Amino acid sequence: MTTVPDTAPGTANPLIAPTAEGHRRVLTGDRPTGPLHLGHYFGTLQNRVQLQLQDIELMIVIADYQVITDRDRADRVAEHAENLVLDYLAAGVDPDRATIFTHSAVPALNQLMLPFLSLISVAELSRNPTVKDEITHSRQAAVSGLMFTYPVHQAADLLFCKADLVPVGQDQLPHLEITRTIARRFNDRYTPLFPEPQALLSEAPLLLGIDAGKMSKSRGNAITLGADEDETARLLRGAVTDNDRHISYDPATRSGVSNLVLLIALCQGRDPHAVAEEIGSGGAARLKRTATEAVNEHLRPLRARRTELAADRALLREVLHSGNARANAIADRTLAEVRTAMGTF
Ligand code: TRP
Repeated sequence: MTTVPDTAPGTANPLIAPTAEGHRRVLTGDRPTGPLHLGHYFGTLQNRVQLQLQDIELMIVIADYQVITDRDRADRVAEHAENLVLDYLAAGVDPDRATIFTHSAVPALNQLMLPFLSLISVAELSRNPTVKDEITHSRQAAVSGLMFTYPVHQAADLLFCKADLVPVGQDQLPHLEITRTIARRFNDRYTPLFPEPQALLSEAPLLLGIDAGKMSKSRGNAITLGADEDETARLLRGAVTDNDRHISYDPATRSGVSNLVLLIALCQGRDPHAVAEEIGSGGAARLKRTATEAVNEHLRPLRARRTELAADRALLREVLHSGNARANAIADRTLAEVRTAMGTF
């Protein structure tokens, strides 16, 4: 797996030379199951905005068909999708240059999944550790065919638009490996059509939830981008710390304290050790106050834009409509190429 290094948060990403065609296209996505939180923001959202500032074409899939991988119904999916658009725009994604679209609105994308399924074995699908983990945490009584095969659908997300870069978290790497395998096999078996996309991993260490576990919408331990300043203060006051008054950055042995130090460092674009040293023996109370101020200050412009944009639901829907139209045009073109390559009608 090739990864392209990222720089510290808040600094420009010294990317990545353009391809021979002088063009790079990035695709990434989110499931519309709830609002985005600080983990998404520092993990991929900031990266997406930075890439766009460097004139790299940005595609974002709102993966509505992935919602029904680990649950029976997609509740309030249209509302969640609109709110994702809201979070993207508030974070600085430019809707005039980015293509934001939903799975369910792009039929040709789903049609590509079928030949792609023929290029990967059941054994290869069974080995995917991310799918295994999701099956363990699933609320469903039985594992559906979609749970098992959605990484191939995700391959279609990347291949229909021939994306060459994917800003994602570690957990998505097995899916990306499946995508690369499918691209390679298609190119070998038929005609070379697809680039093998590369992961763009954030260098920022993983931000945990306020309980020092994995930050997640469904675990109630996340600070969402849209949370107001009081809610942010309340959540951070309840964060897990320890009894040692001396604050240090030591993620392996002091996960709760170190996570708050990291949060401050990410918000302020600083080194976590320097942040810890500055707080010194101020204890957990000072650490939490500093974290609250850092988050609220860093997110203030984003949240102000978010409040303004939230009043214009028609605009959010329009961004999705035009994104879907663009994604359909690209997917139809790729499907036509695939048909020609395979010699079908
Ligand atoms: N699986 C991703 C998640 O759960 C969402 C996603 C769907 C995605 N299609 C993608 C990510 C393509 C990167 C590329 O968050």
